[in-house]
Amino acid sequence: MEQMMESSFTGETPRLSEPVDNIIIIGAMGCGKSSVGWLAAKILGFGFIDLDEYIERSEKMGVTQIFNEKGESYFRDIEKQAVESLRGIRSHVIATGGGAVVDDENWQAFCDMGATVWLNTSPQEIARRFVSDETELKKRPLLAELAGESDKQLRQRLLTERLSALIGQRQARYKQADVILTDTFSTPESSAKKLVRTLIREGLVRTPGADAALDRWGSL
Ligand code: S3P
Repeated sequence: MEQMMESSFTGETPRLSEPVDNIIIIGAMGCGKSSVGWLAAKILGFGFIDLDEYIERSEKMGVTQIFNEKGESYFRDIEKQAVESLRGIRSHVIATGGGAVVDDENWQAFCDMGATVWLNTSPQEIARRFVSDETELKKRPLLAELAGESDKQLRQRLLTERLSALIGQRQARYKQADVILTDTFSTPESSAKKLVRTLIREGLVRTPGADAALDRWGSL
């Protein structure tokens, strides 16, 4: 599986060349930000923050409920407050919500916090994951209505279309990431391992435990 994955460091003049305080994972809903980010944090010995969970804890409400009861613009406001409140954090992997990067001030905050990593998973693959996991689909208010489509093939097609459109709108920003991990059919474990290797290779992390943790990967 791992051979199907590519990673690249972006930009002719890389924005970063020294170890960073944090790793910020960006990308579309369902691309694997939380699972890959959590595993990468574990290998690096970093803390892990899922921005949506952080918001849910502070609001004492799920993201879907916030969208349904208070609307998307309210969600974007509190998302922005949450991003701002993370400034100054160190030694964390942060999994962002798929739309958090659109706001220019959020983007600036992420860039100030550390290295940004785009987990570039294809819309077809994300749609496949959501078709086989309805619970996860229902947690995404921007896609949840498609959970009502009982024809699985049609649901897969509609999800792919919706995700392609959303990624298309946001791609210019996603492409600005410091590291792009293009990952089609691999597991969270192989993606996390690939990510940590890339970060070490590019000199973005220098944690004494990371190399050893990669060696011990089988036991993680
Ligand atoms: C959103 C992505 C979600 C969540 C909210 C909006 C988006 O996070 O923040 O439903 O606009 O793409 P995930 O990317 O973790 O699903």
